[in-house]
Formats: sequence, structure tokens, C-alpha cells
Amino acid sequence: MGDAKKLYLKTYGCQMNVYDSERMGAALAAGGYVEVAAPEEADLVILNTCHIREKAAEKVYSELGRLRPLREARAAAGGQMTIAVAGCVAQAEGAEILRRQPLVDLVVGPQAYHRLPEMVARSRAGGAAEIDTEFPEEDKFDHLPQGRSEKPKARRAPAAFLTAQEGCDKFCAFCVVPYTRGAEVSRPVAKVLAEARDLVGRGVVEITLLGQNVNAYHGEGPDTEGGGAWSLARLIRALAGIEGLARIRYTTSHPNDMTEDLIAAHAEEPKLMPFLHLPVQAGSDRVLKAMNRRHTAESYLRLVERIRAARPDIALSGDFIAGFPGETEADFEDTMALVREVRYAQAYSFKYSPRPGTPAAAAEQVPEPVKAERLARLQALLGEHQAAFQAGCVGPTLPVLIEKPGRHPGQMVGRSPYLQAVHLDCDPDAVGRILDVEITGAGPNSLSGRRPAA
Ligand code: 5AD
Ligand code: SF4
Repeated sequence: MGDAKKLYLKTYGCQMNVYDSERMGAALAAGGYVEVAAPEEADLVILNTCHIREKAAEKVYSELGRLRPLREARAAAGGQMTIAVAGCVAQAEGAEILRRQPLVDLVVGPQAYHRLPEMVARSRAGGAAEIDTEFPEEDKFDHLPQGRSEKPKARRAPAAFLTAQEGCDKFCAFCVVPYTRGAEVSRPVAKVLAEARDLVGRGVVEITLLGQNVNAYHGEGPDTEGGGAWSLARLIRALAGIEGLARIRYTTSHPNDMTEDLIAAHAEEPKLMPFLHLPVQAGSDRVLKAMNRRHTAESYLRLVERIRAARPDIALSGDFIAGFPGETEADFEDTMALVREVRYAQAYSFKYSPRPGTPAAAAEQVPEPVKAERLARLQALLGEHQAAFQAGCVGPTLPVLIEKPGRHPGQMVGRSPYLQAVHLDCDPDAVGRILDVEITGAGPNSLSGRRPAA
């Protein structure tokens, strides 16, 4: 460990960034980097960034501002702090980052992470700043090792993410994803299954398949089974055949790609958890059309009915945008009406944030105070429904996957089937096991429970 180099990796934004950070960490571990929890002593700092809304993107520049004195102190002490900006801000802004913050050494987009170790090596040897925002032909995942540790079979946390699909072809009028993550690409079935088996071999019992539009998955199937593209439903059914894998989830989904076979999988596959993140964004057909969502409020509501018919206890989650350009008070009331009809278990909601290069950014904007007021009303309503869902979980016993120690000694934290955190007292050795837990209390974002008496 003596000459190990220190890596500080900070992740912003979505779960795919969390997954990508793990893979970057693993690739750099192979080159002798160990991760540290603070940037002060780091030889390499990577900010894995998010560009989805303006606030998320601006965080990067404030973090870079904070790094400047640390880097100067490192240099004064004879050390060298290399700074890399990765993720969607890197992809979207490229050279602009170097103009705004000349202390950055490397700018690397999400499709170029497999090149990061050599870029870092060149930079540390005195090379000039580099930018790599190409979308190469080769599959980056073929070059990125799995797992953070150098030990090939090291145990890891029981719940893991696995990217099955990346990019998006939907071009919602507000969204940068089709530009930053590129066109929709599905990884081949064999690679997803191999990675899943490897994860299960390391102690993983729950896998969340990731993709910006994961239910559009159409990965190339193994030749031996007829070839052709597989649907997400077929992939899930194959994953369910892996012994030791107990739970499967997927996120995020566009309503138009919720196929009948995927809905049927929710009815038939017990390993598929009863939780679905199904963003609708708005409840007014006029706004949905302007957003280029290609569905209506009615078609979404009918879809929800079909999903609930297949899996009556399914917990639904959503994304909402308040104050999209052209949204009137009546349009916004349509969103509130849709929310009242669906009653989400959980949701994310945002003020519309104009993103450079997207069609909606050029349109006339809703005034900021109006956006803020609508968002507050929406969040109050979503909060009421979330609280009701949480309260409804008190009483019964739920199977809880024990994930990690909690805040107090003796306390552990697990996950319910509905993706809620559950706090309980139990044996720390239970990590990775699914225990029956009697739910005794509910807060806004988590549950508490106890092991039923034997
Ligand atoms: N402004 C506000 N929210 C946005 N989202 C995506 N782009 C924007 C934007 N420009 C939200 C959508 C999406 C979630 C990931 O982020 O609700 O589903
Ligand atoms: Fe963005 Fe999702 Fe629309 Fe794709 S489907 S453009 S990722 S909001």
C-alpha cells in the first residue's frame, strides 16, 4: 500500500453515474489507486457530473472552486493533484470547462471512461489538458473491470446496479440526455447475464438494471437461443433463473415502452420487485405534446390501470416538471388531477430548467415565482400521498433485504420490496439476507420495524 495513489471520486446525479463511478474506480484500482473519502490528500480527483438541470451542472463549478486551494497546497508540499471532470457536464460542455476552470486537467465524457487510466497517466507525466468526448465504436464495458477491489472475488454490498441500456432516442423537448448520453444502445444479453452472475458470486442478491430508457432494452440475444433482440421482460426472466439472485428491479422507464410482456412479468415473476418508476412529467395533453412525450394523460392512466391489474400492490414512482414553457394554471391543475388519480408512493418533482441546445430552452419561459409556487403545491400533494403510502405499510410483515449498519449501534438498514429504507435492530451478520420484519413505524422517507417473535 505504501506507494498507492489516492483517488477521490465524487458522484452527482443519477444511479447510472453511481454505477459508472464504481467502474471507473475499479479501472483505476487496477493501476494502483485506492479511494479516499476526502479530496485534501488526493492524487487524482474525479467529479462525475450531472447536466440534467442547471443547478446540478453549476455544482461542478463550485466544487472546482473549492478544489483550487487544496491543489495549490498539494503542489506547495511537493504533491500533484490531477483533476478530471467526467459525466454529462463533461460531455455537454467539453472545452468550455477548461475555459471556465483552467485548473482542470482532464475532461472525459461517459462513453470514454475506459480511456481514463491512460489519460491520467499522460497528464501526470506532464501532458497537456485533454478532452475526450467521443462516442467510440468499441464497448467501454469490455475494458472496465467489475468491482472496486483488486481481489477478483471480493464480497460487495448486497444490492448492485447493472447498466443494461444507455442513451435515449425519445428527445423530450426539455431533456439533455439524448445529447449527453447519446443514442439508445443496449448491451448484449450475454454480457448482462455474465455481469449479473459475477455480481451474485460476490454476494449480490438484488440487481437493479439501469438505463436512461431501460424498458426500451433490445439487446442482442445469445445465438444458441435463436438470436435476435431480447426485450427487457425476457432479460428479466433470464436473470430470475440465476440462483442466489433474489430481487430484480429496473429503472428508468418511458410509458410508451411498457410492453405487455413487461407488464406480464410483473404479474408472473416473483423476483421482480413491486416498484416501478414511471415518469409522466405532466398531466396536460397540451403540455405533454409540447414536451414531445408522445403519450397523453389518458393513455398513461390506462397504462397504470393495466400495471395495477397485473400487480395490485405495485408502488408507483414518478418524475414531474412544473412550469414547462407555455404551462398555464389550467395545465398545471391537470397535473395535480393526474397525481390525485394515480397516488404515487414516491416521486421526484422539479422546476423546469432550460437546458442549452434543447428545443424548449428557446421558448418563452414561465416566470420563476410561478414555477416555484406550482412546484410547492405539487410537492405538498405528492408528500401527502407518500406519507399515506408509508403509513399504510405499518402493521404487516415485509421481507427486508439487510444492506448495512444503521446510525445507532445494533441497528441495521434494509430495503423493503417497495424500495423503502427499513431500520431495525438485528444481527450485523444478517447483511445480504432477506428477513421478515414487522413494520412498526413510518417516517416520510423510511420505515422502522422489528423481527417478529419466533
Ligand atoms: N428541467 C427540469 N427537470 C428536468 N428533467 C429532465 N430535464 C429537465 C429539465 N430541463 C427531469 C425529468 C426527468 C428527470 C430525470 O429529470 O422529470 O424524468
Ligand atoms: Fe430524457 Fe427520459 Fe425523455 Fe429520454 S425519455 S429524452 S431520458 S426525459
